[in-house]
Amino acid sequence: MARMPTTPEDQIETANPGALNDYDTIAEGYSTENANSLVNAYYERPAMLELAGDVAGRRILDAGCGSGPLFAELRDRGAVVTGIDASAGMLELARKRLGPDADLRVADLAAPLPFPDDTFDDVTASLVLHYLKDWGPALAELRRVLKPGGRLLVSVDHPFVFTLFAAMAGEKRPKYFEVRNRVEEWTMGGQNARMSFWDRPLHAMTEAFTAAGFRISVISEPPFVPEARELFPEEFREIDPSRTRFLSFLFFVLEAG
Ligand SMILES: C[S@@+](CC[C@H](N)C(=O)[O-])C[C@H]1O[C@@H](n2cnc3c(N)ncnc32)[C@H](O)[C@@H]1O
Repeated sequence: MARMPTTPEDQIETANPGALNDYDTIAEGYSTENANSLVNAYYERPAMLELAGDVAGRRILDAGCGSGPLFAELRDRGAVVTGIDASAGMLELARKRLGPDADLRVADLAAPLPFPDDTFDDVTASLVLHYLKDWGPALAELRRVLKPGGRLLVSVDHPFVFTLFAAMAGEKRPKYFEVRNRVEEWTMGGQNARMSFWDRPLHAMTEAFTAAGFRISVISEPPFVPEARELFPEEFREIDPSRTRFLSFLFFVLEAG
């Protein structure tokens, strides 16, 4: 995978219109990479499952479920899972993975969700909120479909990462305290796509959560799984052997008030 920051969305749309975040195009390539990558398979997914704990019998919405790897793990642990995603291509792969009976629906997190109030015990939102410029409407909908006391588990790009990269690249005054657009060119499975992310500071995240009626139970920078170091020697070459964490994603457990 190539991750190269390019131009902010407003400039790119004017200069070169075309679909952003077209997961349909890279569905196969992304899904294959996600299945075995360090950051997904040996970091994000185990951390999410650890935070979720015992999910047996819980009704869970996997929001932005992609090709369904977390859905599958939650279902294996006894949860009753529904998956939504904006990409029909990703859901097609999820269908292959999860079978004809899996509850999978195309839905955009930026729009009203096709569920009644108080439907779910938990919502998982793995690596999806950072595609949204405005978190308010999406969080309000997730709060609405959660039962009172239900949990929203979130992972997003860590808010410090790209500011740190900018500083390391010699930028004199890297921006942090703004909601900033970042477009990356991804090449996966031989297909290209432009991915548009919205980076925001930590305070903007926590304020959005509380404004939507969530109580913050956990903010987590979890460790990677121990076997990762042996499996990915190249990625760990410059990471001190005593370290058990790296800066990649930030995790939240939020309780619906
Ligand atoms: C980085 S992938 C993560 C997939 C899955 N959660 C996982 O961790 O394996 C992001 C997913 O979010 C979906 N997505 C992006 N924007 C979305 C939106 N506005 N509404 C619903 N899904 C969205 C994409 O189609 C893609 O499947």
